[in-house]
Amino acid sequence: MNGVRVKEGGTELIVPEDHSVKGPGKIRGSVFFNSQMAFNRDVNVMLLRALNREDLSVADAMSATGARAVRIANEVPGTHVTANDISIDAAEFIKANIELNGLTNCIPSNKPLGSLLAEKSFDYVDLDPFGSPVPFLHAAIAGCKRKGILAVTATDAAPLSGAHRAKCERRYSARPVRGHMCHEVGLRILMGHICRELARLDRGMVPLLSFSADHYFRTYVTVENGAGAADRSLSQMGYVSYDTSTMERSFSSEPDRDHKYGPLWGGRLFDRELLSRMSSDGMSDPGRCDSMLGLWRQEIDSVPVVYSIDEISSFTKRPTPRFGDFMESLRRRGDASRTHLGPVLFKTSLPLDEIISAYDEAYSAGH
Ligand SMILES: C[S@@+](CC[C@H](N)C(=O)[O-])C[C@H]1O[C@@H](n2cnc3c(N)ncnc32)[C@H](O)[C@@H]1O
Repeated sequence: MNGVRVKEGGTELIVPEDHSVKGPGKIRGSVFFNSQMAFNRDVNVMLLRALNREDLSVADAMSATGARAVRIANEVPGTHVTANDISIDAAEFIKANIELNGLTNCIPSNKPLGSLLAEKSFDYVDLDPFGSPVPFLHAAIAGCKRKGILAVTATDAAPLSGAHRAKCERRYSARPVRGHMCHEVGLRILMGHICRELARLDRGMVPLLSFSADHYFRTYVTVENGAGAADRSLSQMGYVSYDTSTMERSFSSEPDRDHKYGPLWGGRLFDRELLSRMSSDGMSDPGRCDSMLGLWRQEIDSVPVVYSIDEISSFTKRPTPRFGDFMESLRRRGDASRTHLGPVLFKTSLPLDEIISAYDEAYSAGH
């Protein structure tokens, strides 16, 4: 086993010398590690800490080097973690990392996740596959206890964001959208798929935190048992319309000629109370964590209402105001927020004519 030592958050890790540092990452040796995903693991630690649970059983079902599992066991009090991976080479890294950190609350496991999650259920189940989580969702749901938390990463952001429409339709039975709304819709298609998979088993979901970052989407949901919970969740599904020639967009619970993108999750993305308790103390990149926490805490998340200032500028063919001035002008008229989805994107439920008036007012005020 050839490895190098790195420090991530409060944890020392042995990882393959030849590992990915950016993008979706490639399997370069026999075991995968991507240092860019440190932010994803930071968020994981912050969220689980904020739950303040004294006793939390965790299955990191696709653990690779064990980086996520070992960080959780080491940095989140009260956790009992199973670090599982199907690969025998990964198992060597997992054992070495448990030993390196002297952990007694983390055990290695080397089996297909379907077997692990059929044998035992957990308070928290993590799916972090190469590409789409769809093939593993059923097993993950089965291994999630009542009121358990399901955490899912999808690195197939291109199909979910409309770059490969047919692939998205095959995997998620949903139609993606291209253009300025693509990441919001991609994230919500992933969540919508999880919602529908849960409903098949008479379960519902309540999102804790859902976001887009780098090359992936990630969602954490609490799973609720019962047909009533499933129906309540399904009632939050819907479709969006998006006409790039008029900039009009809207959400509808039923599909029609215009509302053809989806089905997707139309409910909340965040649990604001949980977000208020998340702290970047001890994370590998506290600056990035604080910046994202700040954006998530203020972000409108009720319906898909994301716009880009660039699209207003192309549509009106008028000069672009400073983004800060524009946001102030929007907020004077009604509900508006920045979004973590991008630096020139914003969310508002204001009608289009109000958005354009705010845009013109902000430009005039700045000149
Ligand atoms: C993207 S890597 C996981 C990265 C890891 N969670 C991290 O944060 O560094 C995906 C891992 O899933 C494992 N895997 C693929 N199919 C699996 C299965 N059916 N059961 C368990 N592990 C599996 C692969 O061996 C690989 O190590």
